[in-house]
Amino acid sequence: MDQVPKNIVLLGFMGTGKSAVAREIARRLRRPVVEMDGEIEKREGMAISRIFAERGEPYFRSRERELVQKLSRSGGKVIAAGGGVVLDPANLRALGRRGVLVRLDARPEVIFRRVEGEGHRPLLEGGDRLSTIKRLLAARRSFYDAIENRIDTSDLSVAAVADRIVALLPESKRSPRRSMEI
Ligand code: S3P
Repeated sequence: MDQVPKNIVLLGFMGTGKSAVAREIARRLRRPVVEMDGEIEKREGMAISRIFAERGEPYFRSRERELVQKLSRSGGKVIAAGGGVVLDPANLRALGRRGVLVRLDARPEVIFRRVEGEGHRPLLEGGDRLSTIKRLLAARRSFYDAIENRIDTSDLSVAAVADRIVALLPESKRSPRRSMEI
């Protein structure tokens, strides 16, 4: 009997490539993809920046926690978590029960370039963006360090990051490719 595989959960700071890589892995493995920010926007009927502005960050974080609990009840999905999901250790415990957790990293300058011109990241609004990125990364270091699997995406394509993540999965280790046995 086929067991439902674990979720693949991508965590990490904004601009590290979570959403693009999640879509690529989902396409390859034919699994559903859940982009947490997009899911929260759908449920709340408004953009993340508006949720922050009108309801505040604590409200957003509690919606995020609810969604983590829901997503952790079953496996089989590829999940692009919001960058701040790591801030509550209970979120990581829940996601880890039915998921392989992978943290994506990138250098601050690369993050800066990737999020340039984007207006939907409320925590990066106002002030010098590169300094904000560096400050938040430093403040969150210990939270991100709780995740063992890490990939620095700064100099990698989306496909190359996806290759590495797929290679980490227990199912890849159990079923080696047989192309050499012709
Ligand atoms: C946040 C990251 C964002 C979004 C919100 C807060 C954070 O997600 O959830 O703006 O605290 O790092 P992405 O990492 O998908 O941009």
